[in-house]
Amino acid sequence: MSRPYYIAGNWKMHKTRAEAAELAGALASRLADGKHKYLVAPSFTSLETVGAILRGTNILLGAQDCAPAEQGAHTGEVSVLQLKDLGVQAVILGHSERRHIYKEDDALINRKVKLALKHGFEVILCVGELLEEREAGRAEAVCETQTIQGLEGVSAADIPKITIAYEPVWAIGTGKTATPEDADAIHAFVRKVIARLYGTDAAEKIIIQYGGSVKSENAAQLMAKEHIDGALVGGAALTAETFVPIAKFA
Ligand code: PGA
Repeated sequence: MSRPYYIAGNWKMHKTRAEAAELAGALASRLADGKHKYLVAPSFTSLETVGAILRGTNILLGAQDCAPAEQGAHTGEVSVLQLKDLGVQAVILGHSERRHIYKEDDALINRKVKLALKHGFEVILCVGELLEEREAGRAEAVCETQTIQGLEGVSAADIPKITIAYEPVWAIGTGKTATPEDADAIHAFVRKVIARLYGTDAAEKIIIQYGGSVKSENAAQLMAKEHIDGALVGGAALTAETFVPIAKFA
């Protein structure tokens, strides 16, 4: 089974509009001949600017989060209707920074997943264990729970719109990468969870990205693994010089 590679850049809380425009422009030209699926997720404040630059290119426009409701009294939140209005095509949900800094739980993330799907967005659902959970031998159990609860009530028809990103929390922004073997083992395990929930065909097709200190130096080794189908990149996504070699890994 050959799955397309999918490389996504999560710009987190970085860049003014001018800085975001400069990076988007560089990526649009330098990835024009790229062979994989691409996405960048700028801050909400830069979505319109970046969206105008990416329109008609091979790079999808993603948001880093969305509110669990369409509209209403949710001070500080951004709704799927507002994202759709900006031309956003995909939403990253359940990122570890949302889970651990902002205390989002699986039930909240699941509401967002269902709402984003209802409005036609692709979703990147992030799962991953803390260091103490890995050391306690609970990495698989944590990823299983986050996958099952994150996808609760999601129909088989919507599964092609879901990408899973396995991001061990201890590897995010720390310079510590999971070994390709350790990452691949969790990816294979998550694929089995998907097979149990949605059947083997869906499991074979679902794209599972790895995230956590991906750099040009380790991208190819990670991507060579059977169950690693791409990357969700943070720090190295902030410049074209560091992101393009990952996006065009050989
Ligand atoms: P990092 O972030 O590449 O800086 O480790 C990955 C992520 O949080 O998606």
